[in-house]
Amino acid sequence: MMFNERLVNLLPGRMRNQVAQWFEAAEIFGEMRDPKVLAAIGPAGVRGLLLQRGKQGVPTQMPAAHQAHFDWRYPHDNAEMASLYRRAKEGQWNGDSLPWHTDVDPFNPEVPLIPADFIDTAKLASFGVRLDAREELRLRYSLTAWMLSQFLHGEQGALFAAAQVTEAVQFFDGKMYGSTQVMDEGRHVEVFHRYIDTKLNKLYQINDNLYVVIDSLMTDGRWDMKFLGMQIMVEGLALGAFGVIYKQTKEPLLKELLRNVIQDEARHVHYGVVALREQFRDHLTERERSEREDWAYEVALLMRNRFMAFEVYDEWFAHRLTRAQWRELVSTSPGMMDFRHVMFVRLIPNLREIGLMSPRIVPHYERAGLMRYYHGRSADQLTGEQLLADLH
Ligand SMILES: [Fe+2]
Ligand SMILES: [Fe+2]
Repeated sequence: MMFNERLVNLLPGRMRNQVAQWFEAAEIFGEMRDPKVLAAIGPAGVRGLLLQRGKQGVPTQMPAAHQAHFDWRYPHDNAEMASLYRRAKEGQWNGDSLPWHTDVDPFNPEVPLIPADFIDTAKLASFGVRLDAREELRLRYSLTAWMLSQFLHGEQGALFAAAQVTEAVQFFDGKMYGSTQVMDEGRHVEVFHRYIDTKLNKLYQINDNLYVVIDSLMTDGRWDMKFLGMQIMVEGLALGAFGVIYKQTKEPLLKELLRNVIQDEARHVHYGVVALREQFRDHLTERERSEREDWAYEVALLMRNRFMAFEVYDEWFAHRLTRAQWRELVSTSPGMMDFRHVMFVRLIPNLREIGLMSPRIVPHYERAGLMRYYHGRSADQLTGEQLLADLH
């Protein structure tokens, strides 16, 4: 990488960034040692990282092939899923009921969207970029709009994945529960989009790495891969991210929006843990289980290392900082560190609970610095209320 970076730095500005991006993509593929995992993520990686299909400004068509599983006997086959279905019916809420009349001014320093330490401006200055107070507020506004845009894109993926899994899953109680999740995700798309559209007026394109994960699970016919990707990885990480913003924002409408969404998401991740725990324990061979274990690990790294707001970099700093400097800035800024930390607090215990943390993979997580989250509580032991209480 050192050699690559030196090589890249010799190139003129625009070309330098393009080539640096290709090297980053090559590095991701290089990390995938299991050929089955490479086969599962590789084509999506080419579409997302190299062809940037999510950034072409036109709708994306993804072929989806899964078996729709009908059961004409309507069995009550899972008490925990049935109970989640009951709770989900009672927990429905109307997106119109949020306090949309709230006047949101993203540039009001008295009511910050995210705290000042989200980006370390002293470090930025050490790279030769000094921002005045107004620009600092604008940068934080951009970062908030970027995060919420990624949440929105993730919610669109969650909506489609929930619909597919509802068809494909074999548990009938799971299908009933899944119908409520489809509604929940539709509502999440509604409220995030409405907030971005009417309060922030700024929508960012989908991040390439998020695109890869969504593309990979939409085009995989196995329902448990869709589930692992969406319910455990994307939603588990999103749940952590929602929590950080919920805890730190002073903007009351955004706080209320996230409070409601977090309670729905807690059910979704809980369902993911219940369904996959049984599936991985009782219905997979050891070879199939370990393939999922590797896949989850690669996706965790993809999210940890790569969720770096390069869309904001491209807009703000492409001519003033190198991608490596931006990566260092994002990796060391207190707010962004907190962001990534909280994401993994929730994710790692869920992976343990569904049986994807065997002694074979643990040393890899150890090396990635993620084992410190191992003993936390998994989603099936936490209600939405407890999750919110934990954040205070
Ligand atoms: Fe959602
Ligand atoms: Fe969800």
